[in-house]
Amino acid sequence: MTMFSGINGFEYAGRDEIEATQLQRMKWSLRHAYDNVPFYKKAFDDRGVHPDDLHSLRDLAKFPFTVKKDLRDNYPFGLFAVPREKLSRIHASSGTTGKPTVVGYTTQDIDVWSEAIARCIRAAGGHAGDMVHVAFGYGLFTGGLGAHYGAERCGCAVVPASGGATEAQIQLIQDFKPRIIMVTPSYMLSLADSFERMGIDPRTTSLEIAMHGAEPWTEEMRHEIEQRFALKAVDLYGLSEVMGPGVGGEFAETQDGLTIWEDLFYPEIINPETGEVMPDGEEGELVFTSLCKEAFPIIRYRTRDLTRLLPGSLSKMRRIARIFGRSDDMMIIRGVNVFPTQIEEIICRDARLTPHYFCEIRRPKVMDELTVVAEAKGDFSDDDSRAHLAAELKKLIKNLCGVTTKVDVREPGGIPRSAGKAKRVFDYRNLK
Ligand code: DLL
Repeated sequence: MTMFSGINGFEYAGRDEIEATQLQRMKWSLRHAYDNVPFYKKAFDDRGVHPDDLHSLRDLAKFPFTVKKDLRDNYPFGLFAVPREKLSRIHASSGTTGKPTVVGYTTQDIDVWSEAIARCIRAAGGHAGDMVHVAFGYGLFTGGLGAHYGAERCGCAVVPASGGATEAQIQLIQDFKPRIIMVTPSYMLSLADSFERMGIDPRTTSLEIAMHGAEPWTEEMRHEIEQRFALKAVDLYGLSEVMGPGVGGEFAETQDGLTIWEDLFYPEIINPETGEVMPDGEEGELVFTSLCKEAFPIIRYRTRDLTRLLPGSLSKMRRIARIFGRSDDMMIIRGVNVFPTQIEEIICRDARLTPHYFCEIRRPKVMDELTVVAEAKGDFSDDDSRAHLAAELKKLIKNLCGVTTKVDVREPGGIPRSAGKAKRVFDYRNLK
């Protein structure tokens, strides 16, 4: 317990102190996983490594990776390192297929997690006394409850709105006048549409800070949200396997990417093909090792999120660049790699389109076919304007992504709005 006390304020420690803490905690975490989770003992033994082999942070590269399938194979509690009586919370994320992945927390884990999110809220410019509207979903998803406990830890008053019931949310925002909102960027845009439908200018709300995450988004989307709401939007990153939201957060002052709370979660970037650790600054797959989780230690977890590690700025802890996609979101169209975020950049830059979109992949015969579905704004919604917009968009996508697509520009409101994580890619190739 003492090893993890005093983490409040540690985000401003010097580099030497951060690395010394990481090494001490990494030794503890490897040992904890090895001694208490048969899966890790076997994986380390099979690889011929032992927790005692870790003498420096670099030695972590000798240890095996953990992947999502390992969580599924050990469903539900096989990777837990503490007896059930020690658990204080369970979360789970539903996969697209099969069983959900289940994670657990002790009271101390919840404490560390709350502090990690409180750091994100402070970095975003929040402080005790603020009111925080949490519109991440509550329930098994880590977003709602994670944000909730973090905001309480920060000394804020929390409005646990959860996702959905959009008009009721708008009423709450109008009446309670929160300063901060925590919500997925796609749902924030649905809220903007609803404000406007209800005849309220979103720029007139009390909101000053928006904390967005749980799905990839772009600088163009940030710009759109900041303009429409007249507030500052910052990034918030995390994943259930590693903790939930709050693995990293962005400073509002610099808006220069996500600072990873690296005294709690140790990041690496690897080459996704070879598994080799890449030097800071190079693009690859983000991998995390938890440094002080009791119930669910996770060693070298492959997130599938693609980014690069950058040096610290306001904090000496390293940052990651905005996540531009997940390796499993990458669409390979006739040999060309395309990420939904590339499509988003183009759409958000065009003032005649709303920021709502999705992509469909089909294989009518032998060739893959990508259709980008976008939505026109009111003044550009007649058939001619939409056909014209579609032709322009097709050209821009071809230029930027190098792939010929079909483009369907729908009438205003023609794209279903998200109330949580937006689904950007619908792949119909394997459906007969
Ligand atoms: O989405 C936790 C979370 C909740 C993060 C609220 C931020 C805010 P999962 O459902 O396990 O957990 O999904 C994790 O979502 O691996 C990324 O692919 C994606 N993701 C999360 N935050 C961001 C972000 C939560 N800021 C997966 N930018 C991760 C891009 C993000 N992708």
